[in-house]
Amino acid sequence: MTSSQTPENPTTGSRIWLTGASYGLGRALAVELARGGAFLGLTARREDLLAEVLSEVEAAGGQGMVLPGDVTDRAAMNEAAQALRDRVGGIDMLVANAGSHVPTDVNAFDVDQYMGLMNLNFTGALNCIDAVLPDMLKAGAGHIVGMASLAGFRGVPTAAAYGASKAALIHFLESMRFDVESRGVKVTVVNPGFVRTPLTDKNTFRMPFLMEPDKAARVIRRGLERGRLEITFPFPFSTYIKLLRILPMRLYVSIMRKTWDRMKPD
Ligand SMILES: NC(=O)c1ccc[n+]([C@@H]2O[C@H](COP(=O)([O-])OP(=O)(O)OC[C@H]3O[C@@H](n4cnc5c(N)ncnc54)[C@H](OP(=O)(O)O)[C@@H]3O)[C@@H](O)[C@H]2O)c1
Repeated sequence: MTSSQTPENPTTGSRIWLTGASYGLGRALAVELARGGAFLGLTARREDLLAEVLSEVEAAGGQGMVLPGDVTDRAAMNEAAQALRDRVGGIDMLVANAGSHVPTDVNAFDVDQYMGLMNLNFTGALNCIDAVLPDMLKAGAGHIVGMASLAGFRGVPTAAAYGASKAALIHFLESMRFDVESRGVKVTVVNPGFVRTPLTDKNTFRMPFLMEPDKAARVIRRGLERGRLEITFPFPFSTYIKLLRILPMRLYVSIMRKTWDRMKPD
């Protein structure tokens, strides 16, 4: 540990396994977490990009190793977690960030599209949790962080597949907290709004309060350091979406239709 590290800071000097680390939000988060001197296990499928991220992590003051793999492959995730434990002796925090978005239209229903996103965004996170939880429970310490989305709060246009996978993840994480918190394992659900990444670059509609990935990564790191159970941002947009969540269905549908009309391209 360096002198700038404090034991009460949960990300400083920690051994963190971060998935979806090769680009987008995960890449920015890797660099942000490295500033506190964390050791990062970096997972995604693109090994060449992970090697670049590792250089950025080291330049930012952290250390790490690349653990290439597909989060939908449970055996591969168990091997990746074991490789990280073998190198640094344990895992303090899992950030299950790997995920993707495919806009869907149920008029052209393709069940494979839905199951594919569910397999990546939900089962992929479960595979990584499976790889770390037994050791965390045994140690009586650990922190599971899941990257969900504001799109998981309520049904939104074009997100029947993505939103369902994120709703499942939110529900799972919120529920598992009740099981594991008394055994020393913390759970944080992260619900970003729109962040500029290759994922959102595909969107053709207007994205309110679009945030740069570096800023989003800072917000997430601050939230983790403050021990938040939920990190939901950006503030004005997330408050709006949270308020929509409690509206009666008819009113919600009417407001969401109008909101979507304003977001659609001209
Ligand atoms: N951007 C946003 O506005 C936003 C908003 C809310 C929530 N989120 C969530 O934040 C997370 C990151 O989003 P992002 O915008 O950074 O997405 P992104 O730019 O598409 O990056 C996705 C990351 O996940 C990795 N990945 C994809 N499939 C994988 C697989 N099967 N196995 C392992 N890694 C895989 C990708 O690397 P490889 O291709 O190298 O595998 C990449 O590192 C996602 O869970 C997303 O749903 C994003």
